[in-house]
Amino acid sequence: MENIKLNNGVKIPQLGLGVFQIEDDKVLKQAVLAAIKAGYRHFDTATLYRNEQALGEALADSGIARDDLFVTSKVWNTVTTYDGTKQAFADSLKKLNMDHLDLYLIHWPTEGYLEKWRALEDLYSQGLVRAIGVSNFEKKDLDTLLAHARVKPAVDQVETHPYYQRPELHALLKDLGIAYESWSPLGRAKNGALQDPLLQKIGQKHNKTVAQVIIRWHLQKGEIVIPKSTHEQRIFENSNVFDFALSADEMKQIEILDKNESMN
Ligand code: A2P
Repeated sequence: MENIKLNNGVKIPQLGLGVFQIEDDKVLKQAVLAAIKAGYRHFDTATLYRNEQALGEALADSGIARDDLFVTSKVWNTVTTYDGTKQAFADSLKKLNMDHLDLYLIHWPTEGYLEKWRALEDLYSQGLVRAIGVSNFEKKDLDTLLAHARVKPAVDQVETHPYYQRPELHALLKDLGIAYESWSPLGRAKNGALQDPLLQKIGQKHNKTVAQVIIRWHLQKGEIVIPKSTHEQRIFENSNVFDFALSADEMKQIEILDKNESMN
């Protein structure tokens, strides 16, 4: 798996397993162990997903050293204060049964996000989290945050897939030195991208599935990408994307698929 260097020098595996909407402990544990077997070391959860405890147990069971894992969690919108954020972080650590996180994000730019950011900065300077960032922040939210921040966010994790490519946000984050992380990179398998004729054609040419073409496209755009699956075979499939490359022409063709269509 390839790594990306964040703006504070911390390395993050560019591909991770997203565990959104996997609330059944048994299903989650099977998925995490399948991912470990396939070579994933990066796992993306959140308080909202209610699976931090099961994820922590699965990672402990995997036998992989903590230093070889990269674990992200996020503080949810119902927390609106500095103290509440510190408490939420402590609760996440406890559930995961870990003494630090690799990345902690503000899940959405909702009430109190400047206070929440102050708490993340303090957790970071205390060494309890190796990098801090945001999720679902648009330009206006980043402008406000950066006007008050002591520490620049390391990442912005946002919805991105071939029908919602977000070129302006890409350019902005590049200028700001904030890594671009994509959630729902496959369009949640419900927006038709997995059946797209152009992507099918490109997949046939490389002897790869459409999901692999889409993940490869995200990687070549320099994004961190966290496809979710509960199926062992798909978890493996989604990671088997480092032995081929899309040509500049194919990347251009995929760019034309953008409909600026969020699923949110
Ligand atoms: P499942 O968990 O049943 O495998 P996203 O990451 O964009 O949110 O997409 C997640 C959705 O895509 C899930 O419904 C997941 O289903 C499905 N999915 C994940 N990987 C693949 C794949 N390789 N082929 C088809 N569907 C996939």
